[in-house]
Amino acid sequence: MEGLLAPNLEQYIYDLLPVGDAILQEMEQYAAEHQVPIVGPAVGRIFFFLARISGARSVCELGSAIGYSTLWWARSLAAGGRVIYTDSDPANAERARQWLMRAGVAHLVEFEIGDAVDILERQKGEFDIVFCDIDKTGYPRALEAAETKVRRGGLYVADNVLWSGRVAEDSPQEDTTRAIIEHNRRLFESKAWYPVLFPIRDGVAAAIRL
Ligand SMILES: C[S@@+](CC[C@H](N)C(=O)[O-])C[C@H]1O[C@@H](n2cnc3c(N)ncnc32)[C@H](O)[C@@H]1O
Repeated sequence: MEGLLAPNLEQYIYDLLPVGDAILQEMEQYAAEHQVPIVGPAVGRIFFFLARISGARSVCELGSAIGYSTLWWARSLAAGGRVIYTDSDPANAERARQWLMRAGVAHLVEFEIGDAVDILERQKGEFDIVFCDIDKTGYPRALEAAETKVRRGGLYVADNVLWSGRVAEDSPQEDTTRAIIEHNRRLFESKAWYPVLFPIRDGVAAAIRL
């Protein structure tokens, strides 16, 4: 478990969480063994919470990997809901399909392989939630696309917005860090969004489309 809070505090939060079901646990174990950077259960619960309080029925996920976050979104949907899974790696999509079938939610998921932002831009209609977890240099473009694809009152959610604390460096050199800083600045300066930032794990931003 990684995190930006003091380790004992982060551990305390994770210890409070109810144990996930067998599929979630298997996925978490697979992710740990294969270095797949999944959002984990504390952030998964934030997704479930946001989707339930907003009554979300449509989620477009940008960067889905093995489908762990997809599973949290799928389980949170109101009746008749759907999630779009996206990843550039077909092997990830196949793995995700197997997990999501076993979890009994594959029928709620539309699998799309390719560049996630291109896929979002191609979608007809608007989403209740767009969730961004792609390569970090792609974040500013993802935010721009989300502005036209999230319905008013819907949510934009982004993971890793604190990037292991590197966003607070005085002179950040990495392209990834600079891209996240740019993404966060645009999100918080924009009149199109009402954002908040949860400093759990690697930082989660959530914004209402005004
Ligand atoms: C951080 S992982 C996603 C983890 C997942 N959201 C979870 O928490 O379970 C990022 C994934 O996005 C994919 N990816 C990165 N950039 C992408 C892009 N521009 N388009 C589509 N997929 C992308 C990678 O292949 C990787 O599997």
